[in-house]
Amino acid sequence: MARRILVTSALPYANGPLHLGHMAGAYLPADIYVRYQRLRRQDVVYICGSDEHGVPITIMAEQEGVSPKVIVDRYHSMNQRDFERFGISFDNYSRTSLPLHHQTSQEFFLTLYRKGLLVERTVKQLYCPKCRRFLADRYVEGQCPHCHAPGARGDQCEVCGKWIDPLELIEPRCKICGTRPVVAETRHFFLPLARFQDQLRRWLDTKTSWKDNVRNFCYGWLNEGLQDRAVTRDLSWGVPVPVPGYEDKVLYVWFDAPIGYISSTKEWAIKRGEPELWREYWQKEDTELVHFIGKDNIVFHAIVWPAILMGVGGYVLPSEIPANEFLNLEGRKLSTSRNYAVWLGEYLDRFPPDPLRYCLAANAPETKDSDFSWTDFQARNNNELADILGNFVHRSLTFVQRFFDGKVPPRSELTEADREMLAILEAAPQTVGACLERFEVRRGVREFMDVARSCNRYFDSQEPWRTAKEDRNRCATTLSVCLQAVRTLAIIGSPFLPFSSERLWRMLGEKARLEEQFWDEAGKRPVPQGTALGEVEILFPKIADEAIAPEIEKLQRIAAELDEQRPPAEGTIVSVNLPFGEEIPYEEFARVDLRVARVKIAERVPNTDKLLRLVVDLGSEERQIVAGIAEFYRPEDLVGRLVVVVANLAPRKLRGLESRGMLLAAEDVDGKLSLVTLDRDIASGSKVK
Ligand code: MF3
Ligand code: ZN
Repeated sequence: MARRILVTSALPYANGPLHLGHMAGAYLPADIYVRYQRLRRQDVVYICGSDEHGVPITIMAEQEGVSPKVIVDRYHSMNQRDFERFGISFDNYSRTSLPLHHQTSQEFFLTLYRKGLLVERTVKQLYCPKCRRFLADRYVEGQCPHCHAPGARGDQCEVCGKWIDPLELIEPRCKICGTRPVVAETRHFFLPLARFQDQLRRWLDTKTSWKDNVRNFCYGWLNEGLQDRAVTRDLSWGVPVPVPGYEDKVLYVWFDAPIGYISSTKEWAIKRGEPELWREYWQKEDTELVHFIGKDNIVFHAIVWPAILMGVGGYVLPSEIPANEFLNLEGRKLSTSRNYAVWLGEYLDRFPPDPLRYCLAANAPETKDSDFSWTDFQARNNNELADILGNFVHRSLTFVQRFFDGKVPPRSELTEADREMLAILEAAPQTVGACLERFEVRRGVREFMDVARSCNRYFDSQEPWRTAKEDRNRCATTLSVCLQAVRTLAIIGSPFLPFSSERLWRMLGEKARLEEQFWDEAGKRPVPQGTALGEVEILFPKIADEAIAPEIEKLQRIAAELDEQRPPAEGTIVSVNLPFGEEIPYEEFARVDLRVARVKIAERVPNTDKLLRLVVDLGSEERQIVAGIAEFYRPEDLVGRLVVVVANLAPRKLRGLESRGMLLAAEDVDGKLSLVTLDRDIASGSKVK
C-alpha cells in the first residue's frame, strides 16, 4: 500500500524575490524528497503558495505608495515563475489572498471560538498619534529589551530571537513616521497555548526521529512555559476577523498562513475535479504530514500550528518537520534588505538550474549553517557534474555511437567486474533512498555521485577503447553495462537534477517516460538491446572563471559597502517626521555653550562596541570626551577633524571614564549617527550659535 504523504514548503512572503537561502532551506530539499517519493509510487502531494498577509507587505506598500494587492500580485507571479524555472515541482502553488483561503481561515477561527479556545482580552498597545493607528508587529521599532540590539521590531528580535512585547521596547518609534508612540487600549483574541502544553509535550515525546535542532528548540519553549498568543491584529490587510466588533481587525498572519497549506490542498483538489479529495490528506489519520521550513519558523510549525490543529480537532498533526539552518553567502550573513543575496531569478537568467540544485543539495544547511560560494559552485559543476557524471555518460554514449552504430549492443557472458558494477547499480536506489527518507539530502547527493565515480572506475578498468578492436563481445558487454549505469543514474539522479536527467533520458532513446520509472527497480533494468540512442549532447558545460567573476565582484562590492556602513540604496526612510519640541526663548538656547573642537586622540574603549574615548582641543584646554559613535566611525578617521561639542555640560562617567562634554550628532529612526562637523577650517574653541 502506498504511503499517503502530504509535503509542504513554508509559504514565502510575497514581498520580495526568492533567493538562494530560500531554496537551500525549505524548497530544494522538499522538492528532492517529493520527486523521490513520486518515483517510489507513494501517494505524495506537494503543496505551497504565497503568504500574502503580514506587516512587511503593508509597510512595503505604504513605502511605494501602492495598495498591498499590487505588491503581492507582483511577487506572487514572479516567485511562482522562478520556482518553476528552478524545477520546484509543487502540485499546487496557491495564495493566501484567495477567498477560499479567507473562508478556510475564518472557519478555523470560528471553530476555536465556539469551542471556547480563544480568549478575548483588552490589552495595552502602542499607538501612533500621528498616523492614528495601532502599531502592530513591525510597525514599531526600538531597542530589544532582552539584548539591547537596535532596530528590533515589535514582534521578534532578529538578533537574540526572543519574542518581544512591544510595550517593553526601549525608545520605540513608529516605523512609518518616526513618532514616539503612546500607549492605548484595544481588544484582541488570544490562543491560550498553556492549555495545550501537556498535550504538546506528550506528542513531541513521540517524535524521536525529529532532528535535534527542532526537538531542542521545542522543549526549550515548553520548559519556559507557553504564553497566550494574540491571533488578531489592528490592521486592515489580512483575513477579516469573523466576529462582530472586530471590523477594523484581521487575523494575525501567523494564524492564517499555515492554514494556507490546507486551502492550497483544497484548491488542488478542486482543480483535479475532486473537491473533497483534500480531506484524505488532512483528515485521514495515516497521512504523513511533512513540513519543510527554515529554522526561523520552527516555533510556529512545531508548537503553535499543532496547538491550533489539536484545538480544532479532526486534522492530522505534522509527522515530520525537517527544519534547515541558514545559508550564508561567501562567508557572510545574507541580507535581503542590503541586497547581499543571490536572487534566484537573476541566477536563472545566467546559468542552468541543475548545477545550482546540485551545489545547494551538496551544501544543504542541514545540521548547521552552511555557505554558498561561487567558486565552490563552479568547482562542483566542473569537477563533479562535468568531470565525473558528465564524463561517464558522454564516454559511454559516444562509444556506443562510434563502435556500435548508436544501437545498444548485446550482452554476452558477465565477468566478475561486470557483476560488481551491476551490484552497485542494483543497490544504489536503496542507498540514496535511505538518505532521502531521513531528509539527509547532503548524504543522498554524495552517495549518488559516488555511484557515478564507481561507473568511471569500471569504464577505465574495462578499457573499452582497447576491447573495441581486440574483443568485440567484451566491448559490447561493457558498454551494455555502462548504459544500464547511465539509465540508473538518470533515474536516481532525477530528484537532484531533473532537467539534466530528462535530457539524459532522451539521449538513451528510452520509449517510456522517465517519470514512469520505478525508483526501487532503477538499477536492475538494462537498456534493451538494439535501442537506438538519441542525439548525444554535453550534459554539463564547464563554467568559466569569467562567468562567475562578475557575480563575485558584485558581492564583494556590496560587502565592502556594508563594512563601511553606507546607507542601503533601497527601501530606506529618507526623511523622518518627528514632532518638534516645545518653544523656548533665545536666552534659554544661549545657555548651551557650543564650541568647535579638534579631535587630537581617538581610541576604542576596551570591551565596548559603541564607545570611543576622544581627547579634543577646545582652544583654551584639552578635554576627554566619551562618545557612543564607535559603530559608525573608526578612531583613525576622526583624528584631526573638527567637531561640535557642548562645552558646559556637567561631567559624567561612562564605563568608569569621565566625559567632559558631548559631541553633537544627528540620529535617524534606525539609530544611525552622523557627526556634526564644519564645512571649512576654523579655530578650535570658536563658538557655535
Ligand atoms: N511566510 C513565512 C516566512 O517566510 C512562512 C510561512 S509558513 C506558513 O517566514 F506555514 F505559515 F505558511
Ligand atoms: Zn506614525
